[in-house]
Amino acid sequence: MKILITGGAGYIGSVLTPTLLALGHEVTVLDSFYFKQSSLLDCCQHEKFQVIRGDARDEALIKALVAKADLIIPLAALVGVPLCNTDAIATKTTNQEAVEMLCRLASRSQWIIVPVTNSGYGIGDKGKSCTEDSPLRPISTYGVTKVKAEVAALSRENSISFRLATVFGLSPRMRLDLLVNDFVYRAVNDRAVVIFEGHFKRNYIHIRDVVRVFAHGISNFEKMKGKPYNVGLDDANLSKLELCAEIKKHLPKFVYLEAPIGEDPDKRDYIVSNARIAAAGFKPEWNLDRGIRELIKGYTILRNTIYSNV
Ligand SMILES: NC(=O)c1ccc[n+]([C@@H]2O[C@H](COP(=O)([O-])OP(=O)(O)OC[C@H]3O[C@@H](n4cnc5c(N)ncnc54)[C@H](O)[C@@H]3O)[C@@H](O)[C@H]2O)c1
Repeated sequence: MKILITGGAGYIGSVLTPTLLALGHEVTVLDSFYFKQSSLLDCCQHEKFQVIRGDARDEALIKALVAKADLIIPLAALVGVPLCNTDAIATKTTNQEAVEMLCRLASRSQWIIVPVTNSGYGIGDKGKSCTEDSPLRPISTYGVTKVKAEVAALSRENSISFRLATVFGLSPRMRLDLLVNDFVYRAVNDRAVVIFEGHFKRNYIHIRDVVRVFAHGISNFEKMKGKPYNVGLDDANLSKLELCAEIKKHLPKFVYLEAPIGEDPDKRDYIVSNARIAAAGFKPEWNLDRGIRELIKGYTILRNTIYSNV
């Protein structure tokens, strides 16, 4: 297929793009290279890879690129609560309006697969799993804009939305702000972490399984289209304290303390059912333990220490 990925040089895109190329697809990435990342250099060897430095909100540019695509995967976004809080206008125009524009410009026969966050469930009902039919009550600007992007995608004919859990694992454009990636980094380097609201439950999924679910969506598009799918690990609906206990099994010197005061700005607290994506034939391959082992190896290579002497 001819695939257009906006934001394809990001954390997910930098693993997704080479995988789709290896599967034989023709991939065009449009990215602003917001983080000055060089994560797609290895893709440039492929004749079927095109890359454009530009803005996903640029209508004339998008119009020309959409016209050539069979499938569009909009990844371009300001991602995560802290980054979104630094620029509410860019968050709305990129995360929401650029996807609405794509949906307007794409013809009915073109396919769209959009990832959104399962943080749209906000604060879940105690003890009850959120299914795709649960009400969406996003708390942050990030969550609100992603829910609106999903509404735009699913109100057209040929779209799938993946409501992703918090992603973990290594990528050539690494993100240390994601919960599991962050805690393992601290456990390796600082050996300690202070937790706010440690009982808040979250759901997790490895980046390689995120890429696999996109490939699954492409192969099973006709059967799966028109719906949102939760994508997370059934056995990892874990609170932050439980996640730390898992990390400690790998790094016994890790110490974690819950702070009696203070708040997590990202208020989400819920458990999620992944039954619908399982019924669509998708099964994750990476559990938390395997991802933690991978991260520990990766952090032997990565160090964030330009201003430290060691
Ligand atoms: N990582 C997660 O845990 C997670 C969970 C749920 C959903 N998602 C969604 O997946 C997508 C990708 O997330 P990610 O984790 O790879 O984040 P990321 O920040 O690494 O990637 C975003 C990419 O978009 C690019 N970008 C930003 N603004 C742009 C613009 N105006 N024009 C063109 N490119 C622009 C950035 O340069 C970057 O390469 C996002 O839509 C995000 O909401 C991610």
